[in-house]
Amino acid sequence: MIQQIDTRKVEELAGKVIGDVAGALSLFMAYIGDQAGLFDALDGEGRLSVAQLAQKTGLNEKYLHEWLGSVSAAGYLNFHPEDETFSISPEQALVFAREGQPACMQGFIQAVVSQYESHEKSVETFRSGKGRPWSDQSECCFCGTDRFFRPGYAANLTSDWIPSLGGVEEKLKAGAKIADIGCGHGSSSILMAQAYPNSEVIGFDFHEPSIEEARRKAKAAGVGNVHFEVASAQDYPGKAYDFACIFDALHDMGDPVGAARHIRETLKEDGTFMLVEPMAGDSMADNMHPLGQIFYAFSTTVCTPASLAQDVGLGIGAQAGQKRLTEVLEEAGFGSVRRASETPTNMVLEVTA
Ligand SMILES: C[S@@+](CC[C@H](N)C(=O)[O-])C[C@H]1O[C@@H](n2cnc3c(N)ncnc32)[C@H](O)[C@@H]1O
Repeated sequence: MIQQIDTRKVEELAGKVIGDVAGALSLFMAYIGDQAGLFDALDGEGRLSVAQLAQKTGLNEKYLHEWLGSVSAAGYLNFHPEDETFSISPEQALVFAREGQPACMQGFIQAVVSQYESHEKSVETFRSGKGRPWSDQSECCFCGTDRFFRPGYAANLTSDWIPSLGGVEEKLKAGAKIADIGCGHGSSSILMAQAYPNSEVIGFDFHEPSIEEARRKAKAAGVGNVHFEVASAQDYPGKAYDFACIFDALHDMGDPVGAARHIRETLKEDGTFMLVEPMAGDSMADNMHPLGQIFYAFSTTVCTPASLAQDVGLGIGAQAGQKRLTEVLEEAGFGSVRRASETPTNMVLEVTA
């Protein structure tokens, strides 16, 4: 059969791919700039020549010249041809230099770059259909994940998400027992411990290096009412929790039903489980936008392999959506699931008996 080719459509698609190639490389350049301290070095300095930036940072002028050309062409920095200098605007600084600001994208970028670092393993996993444990991802992936999620938690967790749940904030202020399951580097646990000093927070994760990092962070922050334990979601210790939460981790678990069942069994009768999951619609058709593009990609190389590497290996994926999550929670024995809050990237579900 002779297929008619619409050359205009081919050109359009090829043009889009060129834009994507430019974007992929720009993220890598932004990562180099982040790790080499270049955005910070430019922040607040006005215009600097290549030689001045080289002097300030001690970096090779030849490399800086090429790097500055790329990031300026990307619009991440500004090139001033009249005097051959470079600058960072306050808006660019918020996105590339100011660690901890909600607009800072460096954690997101680090998580993307981490996927290129182990691309052969991803191909192998994909072709074999086997799982790939979370622990097999690179260090850059763990740090990038925490760096990416933390500003969103800092901006929303205690000011919006917890207050949106019925009666929970009052309990936590008075003093409650909190389990943060799949806590990773512990940012969410530490934020809750700081906001609710009368409460006791226990962060659980089965990835030992993450728990060690969480302990280091809590110590550095000087927070005493939080501690961390290596434990899996299906059988972490303790009983009679007032509040349990999972941040962006249920879909990474092999047995999310088993994890949710254990939460139900270890919560007090009137306790609340707050489930934070990536924003998604209930069908793939609802997720055909850039956020879906991003989450399905991470799900292909990180989340779904992490789930398939565990017992049960349900692999619900990072775009499961509220309907599928509700099925999981009801199978675990919970009676009520309500969307309590949301951001453009997360949904917050209030789950009760
Ligand atoms: C995407 S990370 C999220 C980490 C953290 N909650 C955050 O928001 O930064 C997923 C975490 O779930 C943990 N995890 C996955 N399956 C688990 C299981 N069955 N039991 C305990 N932790 C698990 C991983 O070790 C990882 O730290």
